[in-house]
Amino acid sequence: MEKLIINDKIKKSRVPARLDLTQSATGLFLGLFMWAHMILISSILLGKGSFNFIARFMELSFISSSGKVHPSAVFFAVLIVFTIFIIHAALGIRKFPISWKEHAIFRSQMKMLNHTDTNLWYIQVVTAFIMFFLGSVHLYIMLTHPHIDPFISADRFVSSSMWPLYLVLLFAVELHATIGIYRLCMKWGWFAGKDARKSRGKMKTIKNRLTIFFLTLGILSFLVFVIIGIGHRHNVGQLYMSDHPVIEKTIQNHDTAAVQHEAKTVQNEKNTHEE
Ligand code: HEM
Repeated sequence: MEKLIINDKIKKSRVPARLDLTQSATGLFLGLFMWAHMILISSILLGKGSFNFIARFMELSFISSSGKVHPSAVFFAVLIVFTIFIIHAALGIRKFPISWKEHAIFRSQMKMLNHTDTNLWYIQVVTAFIMFFLGSVHLYIMLTHPHIDPFISADRFVSSSMWPLYLVLLFAVELHATIGIYRLCMKWGWFAGKDARKSRGKMKTIKNRLTIFFLTLGILSFLVFVIIGIGHRHNVGQLYMSDHPVIEKTIQNHDTAAVQHEAKTVQNEKNTHEE
């Protein structure tokens, strides 16, 4: 009894609740960002011109009449997303099973319960683990080469051998994002309505449809990038708008691939003259 009274006087920490709230907020931001990211990437399905238009827009080409691009705008966007990604991952680790024993106990209870939402939590943990590594590689590359272009992106898929990473990451990210947003709705009671059981069923259906929708967009975009990348493998580094002097010059200062391409073109011209 004495012990209970002492425990009651200890001030309860608000830190775990604040960490949970931060994890939810960063998760919501990243989930919505990933949906927007997939819609922007899938503009390649409408053609190289559409993807190029969005890429130039993101590089703030509309600021000046010459069409000068600012890859630094993409750099800062990636920096913000990467920081939030790291914060979200660091907060998520708190909930991982930390030993093989803990993992085995969880798996056996998961089998015994056979409860969909518990199974979804496990998928969250596995996909988070995958994204930890693969997401960091992609973000680091976008941070150090913040140039987006239909050919440069397709070259990254094929000639820089990013396609296996993108394929695995695509499944991990789409499952993680939709399950994550579904679980947020359940946790904070969003859209619960009057009949919580009924709305849970509806939300599950929406979640499944969204996963199928974004996976389909991702797989189709993946295939288009691979086809463009295969066709462009002998001109790696050449830009879609290589005839645009202002863009070409800006990118040359930022992207070593473009510089290498320039060097190759000069060398080829030299060889032709010599022959
Ligand atoms: C501001 C941050 C980001 C930017 C600017 C960005 C940009 C891009 C671009 C331009 C591509 C096309 C391929 C390429 O150029 O290499 C791409 C593909 C992809 N990105 Fe991101 N990305 C960002 C964040 C993320 C994050 C956080 C994830 C997941 C952790 C992610 C997952 C993917 C996946 C899976 C693909 C392949 C899509 C497909 O195969 O259809 N991206 N991203």
